[in-house]
Order: sequence, then structure tokens, then C-alpha cells
Amino acid sequence: MRARCAVMMAYYRLLIFLLPVMFYLTTAIDYTNGSPHIGHAYEKVLADVITRYRRLRGDEAFFLTGVDQHGQKVQQTAEKEGVSPDVFVKRTTRKFLDLWEKLGVQYDGWAETTDQRHKDCVQSILLMLKQQGQLYKSAHSGHYSVRQEQFLSDRDRDAAGNFGPEWGEVVVIEEENWYFKLSEHTAWLKSYLEGTPDAVLPVFRKAELLNAIERNSGTDLCISRPKERLHWGIEFPGDPDYVTYVWFDALINYISFAGYHAAPDAGLPDFTRLWTSDERPVHIIGKDILVPAHGIYWLCMLHAIGFSNEEMPRLLVHGWWNLRGEKMSKSIGNSVDPHELAETFGTEALRYYLVRDIATGKDSDFDAERLVMLYNTELANELGNLCNRALNMSQRFTAGVLHRGGAFTEDDLALQTSLTQSTTAYRDAMDDFDISKALEALNRHVAHCNGYAERMKPWELNKNLENQDRLATVLYHLAESVAHAAVLLSPVLPAAAAQLAAQLELPTLAHLKLPDLRWGLLPDAHLIGKPMPVFPKILLEKPA
Ligand code: MSP
Repeated sequence: MRARCAVMMAYYRLLIFLLPVMFYLTTAIDYTNGSPHIGHAYEKVLADVITRYRRLRGDEAFFLTGVDQHGQKVQQTAEKEGVSPDVFVKRTTRKFLDLWEKLGVQYDGWAETTDQRHKDCVQSILLMLKQQGQLYKSAHSGHYSVRQEQFLSDRDRDAAGNFGPEWGEVVVIEEENWYFKLSEHTAWLKSYLEGTPDAVLPVFRKAELLNAIERNSGTDLCISRPKERLHWGIEFPGDPDYVTYVWFDALINYISFAGYHAAPDAGLPDFTRLWTSDERPVHIIGKDILVPAHGIYWLCMLHAIGFSNEEMPRLLVHGWWNLRGEKMSKSIGNSVDPHELAETFGTEALRYYLVRDIATGKDSDFDAERLVMLYNTELANELGNLCNRALNMSQRFTAGVLHRGGAFTEDDLALQTSLTQSTTAYRDAMDDFDISKALEALNRHVAHCNGYAERMKPWELNKNLENQDRLATVLYHLAESVAHAAVLLSPVLPAAAAQLAAQLELPTLAHLKLPDLRWGLLPDAHLIGKPMPVFPKILLEKPA
């Protein structure tokens, strides 16, 4: 009996090991009232890198992103441009789609809030909440921010008693609207946040959220707009004179496009598989939309809909890219066009910079000179140099054949240790969503390899036939490091990693998972392909 139990235990352990973790990740959906800027590009590249990394870990991953197409600003901008809102949103949505293609952002689900399946889901949730007594209709007179599309209270005034510039034009209006009983969920929200260490990441953002809850408790959320003022939205079920407030509509995209309340033939994922997976979903958002939208409204909405604490998404809150310390904005004229940057510097250089020069959670200053400097030093010089040494010298000195060698010296063993340590540090940082730190860990090993090459001097070893074995061992250490670097770099630079794998003549590299990364990826007597520079230096034209 005991033996049978042991066999069963081993079997279950094996099953647990073999079953992939389901990882569901989404990003904030982008407003279609303007063109994509560098902040949008960062968020999607970050999500793309995390998704690719999770697949590299061996997990199953689903990445949803999309566009937020309703609301007053869309209606107003379309009017200004003399087109109907649906023509306008189609046009702007195209710009986002084109950019994701250009940046190699690969998503599994695409959310457009004008999609009928999303509208049906929003309306079914509203009906359900109404039936549960979570909604009520009431008249309200007060200050209304046109820019933020919300009523303001005295708590939104600044120290001087005014509504600050962040609210844009503020008008006084009186109207009857639908309200969601947000205040009935704030006590739960507080205890959920306090009891869940990874509810908001990085953790310092949680304190900010808890403070905001203290300030806001006791207020309900106005979730409708009269059609006479705003027609571009999802009609309120059972009250055709109203549309749904844009945030209430948009936040639901995270579940509507994950298949919540969807018909089996709707072409959407199986919700229970995605959402109630092994790991809680992750929503990637910028710091500006944590309070109140995601941190208060969304979590309370999910609680009202019936989601348990264990089903609440984790909020990964990233910082902002600024320009010379200032917020980027089209109106100030200091916004940076990611499309142009990718044209000028190349997609891979831009992807690298966007996740390398910012710590996830913190702000950073966008600087094209730093983009060039980081690319040129870390990729063109350091990694490029290592690739060149490993591949070119193997081609020239050993006819492209790699021999594993033996009788490792202290230097060889130190290089192998450096690789193991770098890979562990990379993995820990990536698991913490800290891409920049993971790249630093990888770069440490690349620098170690270049130091090793300078000490071992394969070009000198090649001068004497007696050193053939030693030369082979040294070149193998360099080439093997390139193979590992290609795998570790693949979430950030998929195209460059594929090129390296091709030059190493190792198509299997593309299918390797993190646990496969052991010394000896390159078989003994392996023949590599033709070396080609993968990271050409960016040369900036000097102004005349
Ligand atoms: N439509 C809402 C989100 C609805 S989610 C249900 C929205 N859209 S947005 O276009 O203004 O912003 C989309 C994302 O881009 C947000 O996460 C926002 O924080 C992020 N960024 C906007 N500007 C940014 C920077 N300058 N830097 C980094 N990310 C920033 O909010």
C-alpha cells in the first residue's frame, strides 16, 4: 500500500511538473482619441517581453491588449475632424495595430470596445448588478470635468480650493444618472489589499492606493451619461436615454475578451480556463490609472460581480517615460513618435531601450542619445564583440567546428559559474517583472566572456598547433555562451535571437525552455553557420 502511495505521489508530482502554468496577462487598453506615443509603446513591449519570457519558462501564456474606443473625447475629436466616431476610431485603431506589428508585439487577444461581444457582456453585467440592487438612479448637481469625464467633489480641489489643471474644463451640471454602490465595497477592498501582498506591484504603490481609498470612501460611482450629452457609448440596458460611463465599459474588457458571459461560438477563450488558472491574472497599467480606475473601481466592480479574493487580478503598475523631466504631451509638443524612432534606430534597438533604461514601476527620462549609447555599448560592442569572437574565430581557426574539450581550467570553470549565476539572477529579475535588472545580469556574463577571451587570447593560441585542444575549448566556451545569451535575450530581442540561433546552426534553440539551459547546448563536433553581424553599430550623422 505504502509503495503504491509513493508511486501515486511521484505520478502526481510529475503531473504537476508537466502541466504548464496558465498565465493570463493584459495591458491597459489605449484611447483611440489620439496617436500612439512612446508610453503606449513601452507598455506593450513590456507586456510582450513578459509573455515571451513566461513561454520561455515553459508556461502557457495568453496576452490580451486592445483599444478603448468610446467616450466624450472620441466623440469630440471625431466632430472636430468632421467624421463619424466609428470612422474616426477605425482610423486611429489602425495606427495602434500598425505600431504593434512594427514593434513585434505579439498578442493572443485583441479588445475593441465597440465589438458587439463586449457590448453584450457590459450590458449583461449591468443587468445582473441592477437585479442584485447594486445600481440606483439619482439626480446630482455638481462640478463636472469634461476632460476626465467625471463629476468632481470638494476632495478634488487643490490647496487653494480650485480644481487644478489636471481636470481640464470644469462645468457645473445637474442631471439624473445611474450609480454603482461603490461605497458598499470599500471596506472589503481595504481588507483585501491589506491581506494580499501581491495585489499591487511594486508594493510601494499599494500605500498610495490605500490612502486614496481613505479619501474616497463613502462615495458611489456615477456610471451613466445622458445621451443628449454623449451618445458614443454602450447603451444602458433598460434605459435607452443613457450610455455607460467609459471607464465602466472599458474596464470590463479584461473579462469580456477573456470569454466572460460569452457564447461558446463567440470566438473567445474559455473563461474558466484563463481566469481561474494556476496563477492570478496580471493587468499591466501605468501609474496614472491605478487610482481610482483600476485600484478602486475595477476591483470593486469585480467584487460586486462575484469574483473571490483568489480570483482578483494582480495590478502591475509601471512608471512613466518623461521628456526632460516633464510629462510628454502632444499639446506641449514634446511627445515622441515610436514609429519614427523604430524607423530611425530599428525595432530591436527601440525594444531594447524601452525595457532597459527604466526600472519597472519607476519613471524614466526618454533620451535618444542614451538609446544609441546603450545599444552601441551593450549590444554592438559587448555582445557583438562576443558573437564576433565566438563565431568568426571558430570559422577561421577551426573551420566552424566546435569541440567541447575537456580538462577545464579555473578560467573555464569560472566562466561556467558566471553563466549559471547570471542565468539565476536573470530568472529572478524576470519573475519580478524587472526586465532591466535581468538584462544587466545577462550583460555581466557577456562582459565576463569578453574578459575571458582577452585573457585566453584564442588568436595567439591559434599560432601554435600544440594549442589546438586548448583553442577548441576556449572557442567552445565563447560559442556556448552566445547560445545561452540568444535564448535569454529572445523575449526582448526575438529577431536578433533568431538570427544568432541561425548562425549557430541550432534551430532547436528556438524551442528551448529555461530549464533546458545547461552547459552543453552545442553538441560536440557541431558545425556552425556563416557569421554575420547581428548588432550593427548605430552611427548618427553629425549635424553639418
Ligand atoms: N483608455 C485608458 C485605459 C483603460 S484600461 C481599461 C487609458 N488610455 S491611455 O491611452 O491614456 O493610456 C494607455 C496606457 O498607456 C496607460 O496604462 C497609461 O498609463 C500608459 N501611458 C500613457 N502615457 C505614458 C507614458 N508617458 N509613459 C508610460 N506609460 C504611459 O488610460
